[in-house]
Formats: sequence, C-alpha cells, structure tokens
Amino acid sequence: MNNVLITGASSGIGLELARLFARDGNNLVLVARREELLNKIAGELNSDFGVEVEVIAKDLTLGKSSDEIFMRLKDREIDIVVNNAGFGAVGPFSELDYKRQVDMIKLNITALTSLTRLFIPRMVERNSGGILNVGSLAGFQPGPYATIYYATKAFVLSFTEGLKEELKNTNIKITCLAPGPTNTEFGEVSGLDKSFLFKFGTMGAKEVALQGYNGFLNGETVVIPGFSNKLLPLLVRLSPRFLVRSITAKLNRSEKSG
Ligand SMILES: NC(=O)c1ccc[n+]([C@@H]2O[C@H](COP(=O)([O-])OP(=O)(O)OC[C@H]3O[C@@H](n4cnc5c(N)ncnc54)[C@H](OP(=O)(O)O)[C@@H]3O)[C@@H](O)[C@H]2O)c1
Repeated sequence: MNNVLITGASSGIGLELARLFARDGNNLVLVARREELLNKIAGELNSDFGVEVEVIAKDLTLGKSSDEIFMRLKDREIDIVVNNAGFGAVGPFSELDYKRQVDMIKLNITALTSLTRLFIPRMVERNSGGILNVGSLAGFQPGPYATIYYATKAFVLSFTEGLKEELKNTNIKITCLAPGPTNTEFGEVSGLDKSFLFKFGTMGAKEVALQGYNGFLNGETVVIPGFSNKLLPLLVRLSPRFLVRSITAKLNRSEKSG
C-alpha cells in the first residue's frame, strides 16, 4: 500500500488514474480546484475500495500552491506523485490571452517541477516510490497554433527522461505518460476538440490511464497509449522538421479557422 498524490484528479485521465491506484489499495491525496467534485470522488473511492482519500483543493497556477501542499503533507510519507493536472489552448500565440498562456506554463511546467522537486528527496532517501508525469504526444514536435501547449509538453518529456537517467540505479519509478487525443474535458477547455487532429478520433480516458498505470508499474520510461499514436514519434524523427511543423499546424486548425 502506498500514499499517492494525484493532481488534476477531478476529471479525465487523473480521475481514472485515481480509480486504478485506489482499486489496488493505495491511499490517495487528490488535488484540483473543484473542491466539491473532489469530495464526491473521495467519498466514492473510499466506499468502493476502502482506501483513505484526502482532498486538497488548490489552484496550482498560484505561486505557493506546491509548497502549501508539501507543508500540509509534511507528516505523511508520499510514496508516489502523479503530476497530471494540465490544460491547453488553441489559437495564434500573438492573439491568445497572455495570462492564460503564462498560467499554462505555471501549471504544466512549474507546478509539475516543484511537486517533483519537493517530494523526490524522500524517495531517494528511501530508495523507493515514483513519479508519473502526464505529458502528451504533443511533446514530440512543435505545435503551431497550440505552440505553448506543445512546448510545455516537450518540457515534461525531456524533464522526465532526464530524471529517469539520473535515477536509473535506484528503485524509484519515473514515467512519462504521453497520450494522444483523449476524450476528456481537455478538448473543450483547449478548443482542440474542433481541430482536425481530434477529428481523426480519440481514445477513452479509462484506457489511456490503464496503459499509463501498467507502464508505470512495469518501470517503463515513456508510455504512449494506442498503436497508431506509438508510430507518431517515429514518423516525426524520420521527417524533415519543416514538414512536421506544417502538418502539425494544419492538424491544430479547425474547419472554422481554415
Ligand atoms: N485529453 C487529451 O487529449 C490529452 C492528450 C494528451 C495529454 N493530455 C494531458 O492529460 C492531462 C489530464 O488532462 P485530461 O485530458 O484528463 O483533461 P481534463 O479532464 O480537463 O483534466 C484536467 C485536470 O486538471 C485540473 N486542473 C486544471 N487546471 C488546474 C489548476 N489551475 N490547478 C489545479 N488543477 C487544475 C482539472 O481540475 P479542476 O478543473 O477541478 O481544477 C482536471 O482535474 C493534462 O496534463 C493534459 O495536458 C490530455
């Protein structure tokens, strides 16, 4: 039994990961902004699986949020951190709301890095535990018209792989889950649900979470759910960069944006 901290556990992939960790008897700490929803989920997981579930309602874009979470949990051993909370936004970089773009960096990069940095020293001391970071297939190439989102996910991939290598001689599990388009609230929040990319089809959050969960337990470094999604990084590596940029730009557009 582990104590598992999961960010972005109020919906989508994070919620499904929470269900999987609870199913296997782990106690949870769930973080997101929607407190009422988190409390409802906590009650369900507790009654379905008999595990302890603590809720911490936090906006992770706010400066001290990661430190506050760490302080609140200072008397508990956190064995596993799942950095899943994240969002995207589609549109030209020069036109998208500035604060929203900076908040995206604060959530997708800064909070993920801070929580990892705060909780990992104890894992190293105990030579156990793990970090499961939710990146994206977007992390493998530049993504015009969702430029900041793709760049944040490139960070997640690079950061996680770097960490994995640094800790390769330990028992700490380090995994980047890199899903392709997935049917969650993400599509509507980002606006990518109307893109050509999402028109090709999406996976379900349950399946994505299951593959990520199993990959993490098996010690995999990068988990890409779905057969055709697995081919994409290979295609990107074999294609000239100008072509990758131009195809990704088209995929991020919708019929409306032309
Ligand atoms: N869906 C996709 O197509 C897709 C593809 C590749 C990667 N991903 C990645 O998968 C991860 C999970 O996304 P999802 O698809 O499951 O989308 P989702 O259903 O929108 O879930 C996002 C989660 O993040 C939380 N969150 C958002 N802003 C937050 C903030 N400021 N502070 C704290 N929590 C916040 C949300 O909870 P509250 O609203 O309650 O705060 C929610 O629980 C993200 O990192 C996303 O980039 C998604």
